[in-house]
Amino acid sequence: MDYNRLLITAALPYANGPVHIGHLAGCFLPADIYARYQRAQKRDIKFVCGSDEHGVPITIRAMKEGITPQQVVDKYHALIKESFEAMGISFDIYSRTSNKVHHETSQAFFKKLYDDNLFEERESEQYYDEEKQVFLADRYIVGTCPVCGNENAYGDQCEKCGSSLSPEQLINPHSALSNSKPVKRKTTHWYFPLNKYEQWLKEWIVDGKKDEWKANVYGQCKSWLDSGLQPRAMTRDSNWGVPVPLPGAEGKVLYVWFDAPIGYISATKELTPMWADYWQKEDTKLVHFIGKDNIVFHCIIFPAMLKAHGGYVLPDNVPANEFLNIEGDKVSTSRNWAVWVHEYIKDFPEQQDVLRYVLCANAPETKDNDFTWKDFQDRTNSELVSIFGNFVNRAFVLMHKLCNGKVPKLHEGIMDDADRALIEDIKNAKTLVESDIENYKFRDGLFEVIDLARKGNKYMQDKQPWIVAKSLEENPEAQKQIDNCLHLCLQLSANLAILANPFLPFTARKMCHMMKVVDRMLEWENAGKINLLNVGYPLRAPELLFRKIEDEEVKAQVEKLHANLVKSQAEQAAAKPAAAKPAADANAKPAPVANDKNEIVYDDFAKVDLRVATILQAEKVEKADKLLKLELDLGFEKRTVVSGIAMHYKPEDIVGKQVVVVANLAPRKMRGIESKGMILMADNSDGKLVFVSPADNTAPGSEVK
Ligand code: MF3
Ligand code: ZN
Repeated sequence: MDYNRLLITAALPYANGPVHIGHLAGCFLPADIYARYQRAQKRDIKFVCGSDEHGVPITIRAMKEGITPQQVVDKYHALIKESFEAMGISFDIYSRTSNKVHHETSQAFFKKLYDDNLFEERESEQYYDEEKQVFLADRYIVGTCPVCGNENAYGDQCEKCGSSLSPEQLINPHSALSNSKPVKRKTTHWYFPLNKYEQWLKEWIVDGKKDEWKANVYGQCKSWLDSGLQPRAMTRDSNWGVPVPLPGAEGKVLYVWFDAPIGYISATKELTPMWADYWQKEDTKLVHFIGKDNIVFHCIIFPAMLKAHGGYVLPDNVPANEFLNIEGDKVSTSRNWAVWVHEYIKDFPEQQDVLRYVLCANAPETKDNDFTWKDFQDRTNSELVSIFGNFVNRAFVLMHKLCNGKVPKLHEGIMDDADRALIEDIKNAKTLVESDIENYKFRDGLFEVIDLARKGNKYMQDKQPWIVAKSLEENPEAQKQIDNCLHLCLQLSANLAILANPFLPFTARKMCHMMKVVDRMLEWENAGKINLLNVGYPLRAPELLFRKIEDEEVKAQVEKLHANLVKSQAEQAAAKPAAAKPAADANAKPAPVANDKNEIVYDDFAKVDLRVATILQAEKVEKADKLLKLELDLGFEKRTVVSGIAMHYKPEDIVGKQVVVVANLAPRKMRGIESKGMILMADNSDGKLVFVSPADNTAPGSEVK
């Protein structure tokens, strides 16, 4: 279909961490190339994105760091936005889903579906953490895997043996937030009847889109549709998110995958009062750039929502990329196996285009692909530096040397086949790059650009104007050959700037500066022309377009990756027992890593008031199979401590024993009992906890130091 305007979206990144180069390669870079190209075509486009600021991972991170969810998203929204700007990702707006426009827009959307009686209201039972007073997603229930015995299996999956699990299957399930045992609670939610849209989706995708959409995208859709669609809850129990706009729905928010894609609409609203044109007029082409883990949401759920609401355009295409691995290994934010964009920018200032180049050349367009620093170096040095940069540099240097620093004439009378072939190549390059980009084949498009530079190099090498120059004294006519060669090489350089601009925008700007032309020269309609630079026009001296990447830089980056990995392992080993070991439960087993905590000074240690105490009484805590309630004699006072040792000691066996207590720990309520202090336990390598006790009988209250 013909269209008159284009709306380009890139998946809203979660604001619970920085962006890494896998995000760029998978989604933001292709989207940006496409948007820049469309702008150069002078089409009416809007390119929108923003931070996805809701969802469980953000609340979890907030709890772990002891800050509010708003503080989490404020921090990462700013960092992500800066990273994109620095990399030249040219959004027309980078918004966020915690802002007012978005809350209103997504609530109105929900309300419309509700008023049209589209939702089914259903009651179900869900796990609940009584201590933290939150419902728990399966992922946040931890326990022992029934298959392999891994003690840290999640309620949806055991990462050790790969079994997919449900929370019911876990042995000794506990909340990852508080370690308490989750209980089931009834809750009501609104379900969107995806099943009712199955037929329509089949017609739209299977009968309509299969030839246009990428095979990976179409394949995933097909398999979802083949296995049948189910109603899906569009609300959640949480206090972080867009509140459900219905009376009596306190404590309920919109499901993050309901609100986030509506974020595209809200962002457009914020951007322009004409937003409705881009969303509601039939002659709009809507394109969603995403990573492969987002396919079902953009191809099935969101389109069904739009259809149910009515009045909206549907995506024309959803170009999704696969994943980019790093040095042969999957990106993992928890293991810190990633190349973070904000760090790259610091380590390689002014080298944005180099990264853009390598990520596009290696883009995981049809299969997962690998980023290695060696390849980063090789591609930069042998393609950007030796081919592209070298060609442009030589053309400028020779023009200064052999043509007085001005664009020489083209003497048509003496043009030969090589000249004509080069002109043909310039014209063809435009068509090829154009069709690659229009068809979302960005790698191919980029290779065509480099190929044109390669042809330029070969042409210059064959013509050898620097050799011809040596014969000028006896044959002044030879200047015409030199002129022709450099005229065409300079026109080719101008073409390179236009064609490279969507991919390497910083380089294209630099080239415009060298050629003393305004950025308007970069408009796409100028590509293929060989009269872009006027004869006699003086050009600047060449600037270095790309610099070589040195061995040491590459080595340092690889070392950094590995160092980050080791560091994150040590941090996790150190953080786990601390986070998961409130006085109530010392049951979490620290990984046996030596020196896994940061060094502290004596003053840090001196803050802890450690005392010897004698256990006066011990009893089980009702309905908590790990907890014992202990009465302790601290010499100067008696107090109650709740301790997670019921799996390791029987109450009757420990009365009279001496233990060491953290006496100045802030009091905490557990199962309604106030616990004041924590008993020190040694964690045996077999998972058994034993008291740390003074060897001889010691007066209760004695300081341990
Ligand atoms: N935040 C999601 C992710 O990073 C993507 C959301 S895309 C949107 O996987 F459509 F929902 F906005
Ligand atoms: Zn397992």
